[in-house]
Amino acid sequence: MQHKEDHTQFWEDIYLANDAGWDLGGVTPVFESIANQLNPGKVCIIGSGRGYDAVMFAKKGFDVTAVDFAPSAIKAVRNLAKKTDVVVQAIQNDIFTLTPEHSNTFDYVIEHTCFCAINPKRRSEYEELVKKILKPEGKLIGLWFPLDKTMEDGGPPWGTTVNEVKSIFNNGWTIEEEGFLDLSIKTRKGREKMIIFRKA
Ligand SMILES: C[S@@+](CC[C@H](N)C(=O)[O-])C[C@H]1O[C@@H](n2cnc3c(N)ncnc32)[C@H](O)[C@@H]1O
Repeated sequence: MQHKEDHTQFWEDIYLANDAGWDLGGVTPVFESIANQLNPGKVCIIGSGRGYDAVMFAKKGFDVTAVDFAPSAIKAVRNLAKKTDVVVQAIQNDIFTLTPEHSNTFDYVIEHTCFCAINPKRRSEYEELVKKILKPEGKLIGLWFPLDKTMEDGGPPWGTTVNEVKSIFNNGWTIEEEGFLDLSIKTRKGREKMIIFRKA
């Protein structure tokens, strides 16, 4: 069954209407802080939006792939990378088509309001996808959000809980780090939790 948010146009219309309420307009402080502590490697930002974090990782020497199916988002990623004079591989495609071409490819996958953008019925598919595109011991670094919404509230963004996230990533993953961070932006404090899962 297809859901409204499975369609590119659903998201593209939001960009075209300049109504992307999730867009921070710049780098996500949590990811910038984490990037400073990681060894540079291959990073994939799924549902990348306009690419502020993609460019931030590239500036720090990571080999960055940004994936989003909305043309306006990918155009913005390309423009920002060009303006900043860094290389980002910007792929305009559905994340669920990244395999097999990108299987076993990335050291890191970044989750930032992509999990909540996808229909909840596809969450196990999301887990399988991320597991496939990561290298062994690769890390899924996520800000899991929104923790204050229930399914009945509808979406996207679709609500989740820490327990649900942990139960989805419970087979072939270990938790490397987790916490509610002071660096979360004001409007998301307590509503998002950073959890890093490492693939076995
Ligand atoms: C809530 S926005 C978040 C964007 C970005 N991560 C940010 O925080 O600014 C979700 C993004 O995921 C993209 N998206 C949703 N489902 C997707 C899919 N199946 N494949 C690729 N991109 C998808 C949308 O086009 C949108 O840009």
